Amino acid sequence: MGLKLTFGWVCMLILSLSVCITEAQGQTKDFNVKNYGAIADGATDNSKAFLQAWKEACEWTGRARVWIPIGTYRVNSVKFEGPCKGPIAFVIKGYLKAPTEPSLFITQNWINFRYINNLTVSGGGVLDGQGKEAWAYNDCNENPNCPSLPTTMRFDFVTNAWVHHLRSINSKNTHFVVFGCVEVKITNTRISAPADSPNTDGIKMANSRGIKIQQTTIRTGDDCIAMLAGTRQVRIFNVTCGPGHGISIGSLGKDGDQNDLFDIRVRNCSFQNTSDGIRIKTWASPGIGKVSGLIYEDIFMNQVGNPIIIDQEYCPYPPCKTQPSRVQISNVTYRNIWGNSGSKVAVTFRCSQSRPCRDLVMENINLHYHGRDGEGSTAICNNVKGESLGPQNPASCI
Ligand SMILES: *[C@@H]1O[C@H](CO)[C@@H](O)[C@H](O)[C@H]1NC(C)=O
Ligand SMILES: *[C@@H]1O[C@H](CO)[C@@H](O)[C@H](O)[C@H]1NC(C)=O
Ligand SMILES: *[C@@H]1O[C@H](CO)[C@@H](O)[C@H](O)[C@H]1NC(C)=O
Ligand SMILES: *[C@@H]1O[C@H](CO)[C@@H](O)[C@H](O)[C@H]1NC(C)=O
Ligand SMILES: *[C@@H]1O[C@H](CO)[C@@H](O)[C@H](O)[C@H]1NC(C)=O
Repeated sequence: MGLKLTFGWVCMLILSLSVCITEAQGQTKDFNVKNYGAIADGATDNSKAFLQAWKEACEWTGRARVWIPIGTYRVNSVKFEGPCKGPIAFVIKGYLKAPTEPSLFITQNWINFRYINNLTVSGGGVLDGQGKEAWAYNDCNENPNCPSLPTTMRFDFVTNAWVHHLRSINSKNTHFVVFGCVEVKITNTRISAPADSPNTDGIKMANSRGIKIQQTTIRTGDDCIAMLAGTRQVRIFNVTCGPGHGISIGSLGKDGDQNDLFDIRVRNCSFQNTSDGIRIKTWASPGIGKVSGLIYEDIFMNQVGNPIIIDQEYCPYPPCKTQPSRVQISNVTYRNIWGNSGSKVAVTFRCSQSRPCRDLVMENINLHYHGRDGEGSTAICNNVKGESLGPQNPASCI
């Protein structure tokens, strides 16, 4: 009996030990920036403290969490690089302020995450790009060598990331850029900049796949979301956009490079007072490529300049070189799109003469326009092949 008891105790011991070990592995270690010298006075540059906290968190072989407590932190341009030894979270409870001196802000990015797997950025805090101090430096529409203003937060070659519960305000340039990434989710995020601020896109992505943007509100001076070459498997659900230039694919084909985009769904979104709604834009230039497998559905438009538009003669600053675009657009479905248009032409398909749009499907469209003399909305089609199903307002031109 004594022997049995001993076995019992040994078993218990082993059991509790293994429970302990499992718990230690599952535990998260915090790396509070304050322990690395961060000062929340809104003036001291905290880049060094943030980078040191990141470095140690990244080296930690369990779950690590860089913790930024409540308070206002001035941070200059920072680059958080992996690979890290375990899953890592960047928790922003505080209010982060970008620099306002040109010598400190003429850079590509403000906060840059690179080469990281299993990253979470969250916390309910604020990223304040302090754009007002910088927008005057943006003269890119007339100066080809215009200074580079920084993106607020950029992800390069990041996989399995989740960005949630953040606010980004007044970026100097784009708010979020996703480049060369796989499986990145952005949810419950609020993005804002004044309607007249230059190039303050909300979220821009290129060469990435598996991107989800959900439960997010974007109010900016440029595109709410822009999808560029090499983007596929994108799911944009429950997004509110406006003011801004809408949810765009492109611009594409300006230079002679390859521009492919596949498998993109925009569902249950609303547009308020935007210049454009759902838009595809390609330059009338030599760039080649294919855009296909797009579904836009359950979308509400309120006072949107061009609710549905494909523009293959995109030219924001004329004059532009002109030759028919060589980007082929095909298999695009617009289903259950309703609301009102801010201009008479609610649907514009200005497709390429040399690569007409193929397999465009318009299903159940109801976009009103109330002209002064009672005229309704219209649609324009150039070089389009496809079909219309269900009720159509404006009358379909396909
Ligand atoms: C980390 O990423 C891998 C895929 O690369 C995934 O299988 C794993 O579940 C992730 N781990 C955690 C803890 O998020
Ligand atoms: C959209 O939002 C509603 C209500 O907030 C939610 O029930 C639904 O799951 C969301 N859809 C997606 C795809 O996130
Ligand atoms: C669509 O979004 C609205 C809020 O914008 C939400 O109330 C509704 O549940 C969503 N529906 C679906 C099917 O996700
Ligand atoms: C719509 O946007 C324009 C500028 O983009 C602004 O002047 C106007 O006040 C906005 N209207 C509403 C109703 O928000
Ligand atoms: C058209 O696009 C949809 C959505 O991405 C896809 O499921 C479908 O297979 C595509 N059809 C063809 C013929 O490529």
